[in-house]
Amino acid sequence: MCLIPQDESAKKKSRVEVRRPPPLDIRSYKFHRKLGEGSGGKVMLASFAPTKQLVAIKIVPKKPNKCNYPWISMEAWLSKIARECPFLCHSHATFQSKAQAFFVLEYAGGGTLYRMISRKKNLPTKSIQFYTAEMVVALQFLHSNGIIHRDLKPDNILVDNDGHIKICDFGIAAVGMFAGWKIRGLAGTPGYRAPEMLSLEAYDAGVDWWSLGVIMYEMATGRQPFVPSIDPAREFLDMKLAKVDYPSHMSQEMLDLLPKLLEMDNNNRLGVNGNIREHQFFAGINWSELEKRTTQTPF
Ligand code: ADE
Repeated sequence: MCLIPQDESAKKKSRVEVRRPPPLDIRSYKFHRKLGEGSGGKVMLASFAPTKQLVAIKIVPKKPNKCNYPWISMEAWLSKIARECPFLCHSHATFQSKAQAFFVLEYAGGGTLYRMISRKKNLPTKSIQFYTAEMVVALQFLHSNGIIHRDLKPDNILVDNDGHIKICDFGIAAVGMFAGWKIRGLAGTPGYRAPEMLSLEAYDAGVDWWSLGVIMYEMATGRQPFVPSIDPAREFLDMKLAKVDYPSHMSQEMLDLLPKLLEMDNNNRLGVNGNIREHQFFAGINWSELEKRTTQTPF
């Protein structure tokens, strides 16, 4: 029961006051240049016209015949969830037209880890420790939410303006992968795919820990530990036969950690089996501070 007398003119007034501006759409963004190619589409640097804030916009063409709509919806959902972890690149907004889907993503101005490795060849151990620790936090966040990234590689690791990492591109992530669940299917990029995926076995989040090992090795040496091939059988064979070359300049801690990530048996791989945060390579890392993204970068 309403005890306060309703004044008609006040009601009309409040109706006028709640009227919102028209919803913003992709025309609110000014496009500048191409940043790169993501899974499923190109990524453009753009700015939000009202505030001039820089953003990265991923444009994914809709393919009615190949039916990529479920993947687009999944990526839209994942890029929203990413907001909950500071080391994942999240979306500010998503839009669609008849022919395209647009993901308006936070812009990471420091470029990709790929570019950093290409320029510096091998990064200082302190930097490798810092980037890897942030990736560990991001992976544990994804995996605890049943998400496997499946395409971890230096091109998908961005560095933001403050020197922290942002893992991007959830275009081929697998979801609903809670403890005990496994999936099949070749995904990802030659050189970063785990042996169990290459041999077409069912796999789990262990594939991301393998890719992390490859990325760490690359940060330390400027090259990949195994010969990449588009033929999965060939890549698998090379992995089985090759002995990883660990250069003598690697620290003892890294020499201990890397073989535990590049472990052929998924069940014995660190990350899947054992607490990676406790490894001596991460000595000195304050994990609860690091998770807040307040830790000073080592550069
Ligand atoms: N390249 C791909 N995605 C990007 C992003 N979000 N920021 C900067 N460069 C990118």
